[in-house]
Amino acid sequence: MLGRVNHVALVVPDLASATEAYRDTLGATVSLPQALPEHGVTVVFVELPNTKIELLEPLGEDSPIAAFLDKNPSGGMHHVCYEVGDIFAARDHLVRAGARVLGGGDPRIGAHGKPVLFLHPKDFFGTLIELEQV
Ligand code: CO
Repeated sequence: MLGRVNHVALVVPDLASATEAYRDTLGATVSLPQALPEHGVTVVFVELPNTKIELLEPLGEDSPIAAFLDKNPSGGMHHVCYEVGDIFAARDHLVRAGARVLGGGDPRIGAHGKPVLFLHPKDFFGTLIELEQV
């Protein structure tokens, strides 16, 4: 069911300094920041040969990553996104297997304009999983 790793998302307290560190210290190509108010984040993409890393900074009062940053003030890994071919088939399979799909179970349009789902981290060894249909 799982395909490629689409991205790993890291929450950072300061996107400008994280961008600088990835670009200048680690020597990676980093996109310009994109504000995604509907997701409560501002994001940059670190482009790597085999995948990408998303650096996320909270945007707005109700950002879904604000609590994460409260618990992890210096930032940390937030989720791993795997590609799937059919997100509804993946969801139905996971629900039958007893996994919890966050947010009511219906895919919504993610940061890349494609349907995504998130799976409860407690069902997958402490890591939040995003599935993206490609
Ligand atoms: Co993601």
